[in-house]
Order: sequence, then structure tokens, then C-alpha cells
Amino acid sequence: MYCESVLLRSFGEFRFCMEIGVVLCGNNLCTRAYIIRVWMDHFFKCSGMTTANHILIVDFGSQYTQLIARRVRELSVYCRIVPYHTVVSSDLSDCEGVILSGGPASVLDEDAPRVDAQWLEGLPVLGICYGAQWIAQNHGASIEPSEHREYGRAHLNLGVVTELFRGVSQGTQVWMSHGDAITQLPQTLNMEATTAVGGVCAAYRVVGKPVYGLQFHPEVYHTDQGSKILENYVISVCGMAQDWVPETFVSKSVEEIRTKVSSDQRVLIGLSGGVDSSVAAMIVHRAVGDRLHGIFVNNGLLRLGEYESVLEQYRALGLPVKGVDASDAFLDALEGVDDPEVKRKVIGKIFIDVFEKEAEAIGSHWLVQGTIYPDVIESVSIGTKGAGHKIKSHHNVGGLPERMKLRVLEPLRMLFKDEVRKVGLSMGLPSMYVNRHPFPGPGLAIRILGAVDRLSLDILRKADDVFIGLLRTEGLYDKVWQAGVMLLPVYSVGVMGDQRTYEKVVALRAVTSTDGMTADWVDLPHVFLAKVSTEIINKVKGVNRVVYDISSKPPATIEWE
Ligand code: XMP
Repeated sequence: MYCESVLLRSFGEFRFCMEIGVVLCGNNLCTRAYIIRVWMDHFFKCSGMTTANHILIVDFGSQYTQLIARRVRELSVYCRIVPYHTVVSSDLSDCEGVILSGGPASVLDEDAPRVDAQWLEGLPVLGICYGAQWIAQNHGASIEPSEHREYGRAHLNLGVVTELFRGVSQGTQVWMSHGDAITQLPQTLNMEATTAVGGVCAAYRVVGKPVYGLQFHPEVYHTDQGSKILENYVISVCGMAQDWVPETFVSKSVEEIRTKVSSDQRVLIGLSGGVDSSVAAMIVHRAVGDRLHGIFVNNGLLRLGEYESVLEQYRALGLPVKGVDASDAFLDALEGVDDPEVKRKVIGKIFIDVFEKEAEAIGSHWLVQGTIYPDVIESVSIGTKGAGHKIKSHHNVGGLPERMKLRVLEPLRMLFKDEVRKVGLSMGLPSMYVNRHPFPGPGLAIRILGAVDRLSLDILRKADDVFIGLLRTEGLYDKVWQAGVMLLPVYSVGVMGDQRTYEKVVALRAVTSTDGMTADWVDLPHVFLAKVSTEIINKVKGVNRVVYDISSKPPATIEWE
């Protein structure tokens, strides 16, 4: 059972605070996450952590920028992303090396994105795709639109192997995705690799400087030895220490919280049993002890037995968490509401009310939010510098701290989901909690299509319990990123025994994903699906048909509402 409480801040318009399931929203389908620079700087200032000893990734709008950051972090090296239009000179003077991302623009455009080249002087720099073309152009190379845009695999023909390509095999596969090509290099740039077919410039180095350009994407999975190339750059060229490990993160976060929260202040956190809020609570608890007050709200939209089991889980972890059963308030407010967005708002509003009441009761000053790196997906988009398209108002959270005049602690906001899991494990969170499937904050309300009522909830809870239970017992739970059952507003005719039935249809959903932004349906064994179907139809009164959702995201989303 898993439900995650992540209370995030709002961006812009009126949005509600609510319990949130995992973390990741699909709000901007094609837009990558950006940490707003100001936001990150704020963290560093507050935390007392210096921004030194990190790699700065300047984002020119590539869809792979987050992946670059992941790859660097996988080397236990801290890095941060800064959108190109917010870079200031101190960002560069503070870091040990820079990676310039790819991007959709052409360096030949008049208004091509750029940063001040002087700021990069003296620093190790790795340009990727657009970034490589931009550096090359600054050194007088010829960049021309290719006759054919080059997408997909190519093989490297390596020249004299230098630091960047040490240990990389001749002919290794790389992944290209670009429209322009570097057609001629000046003497100040040394060709390090070409493509095996076509002999196009694939990598170069600025002579005598630790500055490199790669026409391909080392960060993507299909570049076979991309991680090795990034490792060479980050560790050998930039000389980074590999000290970005969970233990360091925890001790620095605890220190940070202690400097911020004075010894007479209380801290409130809304928990949900999910990994983010649990790990955030463990860190804050380590910092402030029993001045942390956790609440776990029963919104009446949880899964079978979830309220009790989550509270039990926190007790076992030694976290001070109080259960607040507000299910009647939620269900009464949801009566007759069938619009998905209105449902979310109604739920968010009740959460705010519950929180306000609890905060007042304990006189808290701070609110802990389980914000993680991808939660800020809506913050800044490169292409439009801010405008994103709203798909669902998930992490629509905000409003709460302002309304309650609380200050916010966000101990996980620099972490990717997998890093949160690592931190959790390092702090002793049992792996069964760490690896729980995400569950949305509005809970089963957005899995009941149409209005939510107690009977529908009861049907859905039982069907969900069968599906998730069988995933576990059949050893498939960990192979799936998220799974759940949707209750459809559809009746179909069936026959049970010799009797005609006219009952509801449920849809099973099981997806693989890394962050919820994109997802694919899981090809679960047919024998397994048949077993789930039989068990649901036999055990759950009110359902006579089970279907399996085989839609990917995009174009569908994970939840049906
Ligand atoms: P979608 O349906 O947008 O979901 O593909 C992506 C991930 O986000 C979860 N989700 C939510 N989480 N509040 C949440 O806390 C919400 O309103 C919400 N809607 C979707 C969903 O379960 C999946 O993990």
C-alpha cells in the first residue's frame, strides 16, 4: 500500500494543496523539468552548502537535459541544471566544470540561445550537440544545415585517443539527433572522432584546453559507452571527487535544517506512506526530533486497509505520526462531483482545511514538503520561457504554506526519485516501503470515472486489492512501476451461473516508467491477467467484466482522470 504525501508550492494561479502520490506529473508532457536557478540558489544559501564541487549543466532546451544530470549523479557527483537564459557569471565561477546541453535551436539562427562565452574561459567545458556546435562556432568552425537531419545510431571512428575517449572502443555506437553539422574545423579545434559512415565530425577538442564538443548524445541509453565518456569528462577532465553519496546528503540536510529551525519551533509534515514524504520525515526527524509532528490523513480515498497499515508503518519506524480520519469531510464534499479537475480541487481544499486545523493545534512554524527534483516540472520551460500546457493539476499543491503563514522545508528538492530511494535505504527505510508503487494524492477518486460514492469506492478497493495482491504473490510487483484498477462508468451484460448480470467494467492498468512523465503498458503474462480477471469477477460483487489498458503515455496518461 502506498500513498505519498508531497505538499508542493504553487506556481502562479490558484492551486490547491493536496496529498500527492508519487511525485511526478504529466503536466507538461514534452517539457523537461527545470529547477529554477533562483530556487536552487536559495537552497544553497539556506543550507550553508556551497555550490562549489559540482558540475553545472547549462540547458539549451534539450529533451535530454535531465538525463545528463542523472548520468552525472550516477557517478556520485553533484550537478545542477541552469536554464541558459538565467545563467549568471557567478554560476560559472562557482563550479568545477560545465556541460552545455543540446537543444532544438540552430546556432545559425539570429536569436540562437547563448551564454556569455567569456564566463566559460578557463573552465573545463563539454558541449553536447547544440552545445558543441555553439562552442565550435565561437572558434570559427563552419556549421551548416545538414542535407538530411541526422537521427539515430552512428558508429565512432576514433582518432588519437585522448582523455575524453580513454577506454572507449573503436566503432562504438553513439546516438545522433541533430539538424546542423560541423563541416569544417579551424586549426584551434582538433577532430577527436568522426562518424564511421560519412566521416562527419562527431567529437572535437579545443587545442590546449579542457574543452570538448560531442555531436552525439552521450547521456542517452543508446550511446553504448556514453556513461564512460561522461565519466572521463567529469572525473578525469574536471577532477571531481565522487562524494555525492546518501550519507553526505543526509548529514548536510540535517545540518541545514538545524540552522534554519530554532529549538523552540515545531514542524508539521503531511505523510502518506510513500517514499518521498517518509524520507523527508526521517531527515527532519533526525534534525528536530519530536518537534516534528506528522499527520497522515484518511481522505476516504485510500486503498483497502491502507490507513491502518501506513500508520503502523510509521510507528515501526519510530516517527511521530498522528492519524486524522477526515474521510467523511472528503466524501461529502465529493458528492456528485464528476469532473476530474474539480475533484482534485475539492480534495485539495479539504486537505488545506485539515492541515490548517492541525497546524493551529500544535502551533507549528514550518511545513515539510516532499518536493523532489521532477516536481518542479512546471517551473520554467526553455522554449516558451515559462508557458507550459496544463494536462492535469497534480502537484497543484501550493496555497497551504502561504495561507497558514508557514515556512517551508524541502529536504529532497535536489533529488531524483532513485536518489530519494537510496537515501531512504541508507537511513534504514525497509526496501518494501522504498520500492512501493506510486499512488496519486487524490487516491481512488481519480480512478473512479464519474462521481465518487462509497459503493464505487468499495468495489474499486476490492478489485485493486486483488490485482495488487496477485502482482505481489506472482512476483510481478517489482517489475511494474505502477499499477491500479480503474472503475468505469460502463455497465455490460454478463452471465453468472445461469443468471444474466448487468454490472460494471473495471480496467487494469500496469505501466513501466522511470519518472511518470512517459510510460508504457506492461505486457503482463496472459495467464496472470486471466487469473486476475477471474478472481475479480468471482470476488468483487458489482463487476462482471475486466479489461486491460494497453495505452502508452503519451498519448494516454497513467491515471484515467
Ligand atoms: P498521469 O496520470 O499524469 O500520472 O500520467 C503520472 C503520475 O502522477 C500520479 N498522479 C498524481 N499524483 N496528484 C498526485 O499526487 C494527482 O492529482 C495525480 N494525478 C496523477 C499518477 O499516479 C502517476 O504516478
